[in-house]
Amino acid sequence: MIEKKYSIAIDGPSGAGKSTLAKAVAAEMGIVYVDTGAIYRTIGYYVWKNNIDPKDAEAVAAALPNIKVDMCYGDDGLQHMMLCGEDVTDQIRLPQISMYASDVSAIPAVRDFLLDMQRDMAKRYNVIMDGRDIGTVVLPDADVKIFLTAPAEVRARRRMKELVQRGTPCTFEEVLRDIEKRDWADSHRATAPLRQADDAVPVDNGKTDFEESKQLLLRVIKEALAVEK
Ligand code: DC
Repeated sequence: MIEKKYSIAIDGPSGAGKSTLAKAVAAEMGIVYVDTGAIYRTIGYYVWKNNIDPKDAEAVAAALPNIKVDMCYGDDGLQHMMLCGEDVTDQIRLPQISMYASDVSAIPAVRDFLLDMQRDMAKRYNVIMDGRDIGTVVLPDADVKIFLTAPAEVRARRRMKELVQRGTPCTFEEVLRDIEKRDWADSHRATAPLRQADDAVPVDNGKTDFEESKQLLLRVIKEALAVEK
C-alpha cells in the first residue's frame, strides 16, 4: 500500500527566516526540506555566469535547454544544487545572484521549467517546501500552508548577520535596499507573484526568537495535520 504523503508549504518574502525554520522543522519531524529559492538561484547563477541579461525573457528561455538542474541530499542531510553536474550550492549564495534569481523567476518559461521538479519531490516524500508560490501554485493542495513574514528592517538585520558570518562584507542599508527591491519585484510580477494563499496561516516572526518561532510553526503544523487526518 502506498502511504499518503503530506506536504507543508511555507511562503513569504526574502529573509523572513523560512529556510532556517523550515530546515529545523524538517529535522524535528523527520521529513524532507525543499528550498525552492535555491532552484531559482541555480538558474540565476547560470544566467549570470554566461553573461545573459536576466530580464531578457527570450534569451533566458533559449538557454533553458542547456541547463540541467538537479537537487540532491548530501551526507550532511542538506540540499545540494547541481548545475550541469557541478555542485553550485555555495556559489548560488553570492549576493549578486539574489537579484538574478528574482529576475529570472519572473519569466514564465523558467517557472514552467521548474514546476515538475518541485511537484515531484512532494509526490515522493513528506516535505516541507519553502518559496513564494508553493501554497498558491506549486502545491495548491498542500496539507498545511503558512505565510511567514517579518518587518523588512528585521529581515535585513538577520540577512546581514548571515552574510557577515559567511564572510561577505555588506552594510545594513545595502541589505535593506536589496530586500525591499526583491519584495517589490517578487510580489508585483505577473506570473505566480508572492501572495498569501487564502487558506494559509499567517505567522509574523518579527518579535519572536528562533526557538519560539520554531515551536510556533510546529504547533500550527501539528494542529493542521491532526485536523487533516
Ligand atoms: O528564497 P530565496 O531568496 O533564495 O529566492 C531567490 C529568488 O527566487 C526570490 O527573489 C524569488 C525567487 N523564488 C520564486 O520566485 N519562487 C519560489 N518558489 C522561490 C523563489
